[in-house]
Amino acid sequence: MLLTLEGLDGSGKTSAWEALRAEHPEAVFTREPTDSWYGDAVARSMGDDDADPLAELFLFTADHADHLARVVRPALSEGSLVVTDRYTDSRYAYQAASLSESYLAGGRDPLTYIQEIHEAFTHPPDATIYLDVDPETAAERAGATNKFERATYLERVRENYERLIERDPDRFVRVDAAQPLGDVTASVKAAVSEILANR
Ligand code: TYD
Repeated sequence: MLLTLEGLDGSGKTSAWEALRAEHPEAVFTREPTDSWYGDAVARSMGDDDADPLAELFLFTADHADHLARVVRPALSEGSLVVTDRYTDSRYAYQAASLSESYLAGGRDPLTYIQEIHEAFTHPPDATIYLDVDPETAAERAGATNKFERATYLERVRENYERLIERDPDRFVRVDAAQPLGDVTASVKAAVSEILANR
């Protein structure tokens, strides 16, 4: 089973993922961007305010392809539970917010376009915990250390996550991430226990 954690920067996602790791030692815990050289290329792009948004989309997507081949598919074929801190929805939400519609030929919708690229090769998540927090709280908690953590940008990212939930409501479990971080972690743990019990 493939379980993904998604949400804005500063939603408390990584703390929740660490707490889950302590609780499920049998599972494979992983994240995107990865620590491979593809992930290094992604980090360079994130540090560049002038990076081309389309080039950046394909760097993140290359890192995902490698992550799938090297970590996710092998673990799933061994029957492991895989829990990943960010996955495909991060691309659909963040890179669609970076790519304006005028960037693509024929007025294509960026979110739909990015989903279509992935559908050709990715392994979709079985369940996704979405840590829902307002962009102001998110930007404040995240400290706006990279270009993706600014409140106006995060507002667009959040709208994209809402579109994803509308398209695929059964896959998502929404957790209120405006709560104190300890409560966010407890809610995520409870949601995961329920998902695993109903599997
Ligand atoms: P990083 O500092 O590696 O992680 P975190 O802030 O979660 O500790 O930054 C990840 C950033 O990359 C985060 O702002 C979200 C963004 N991101 C994308 O824009 N697209 C993606 O596909 C992924 C996986 C992440």
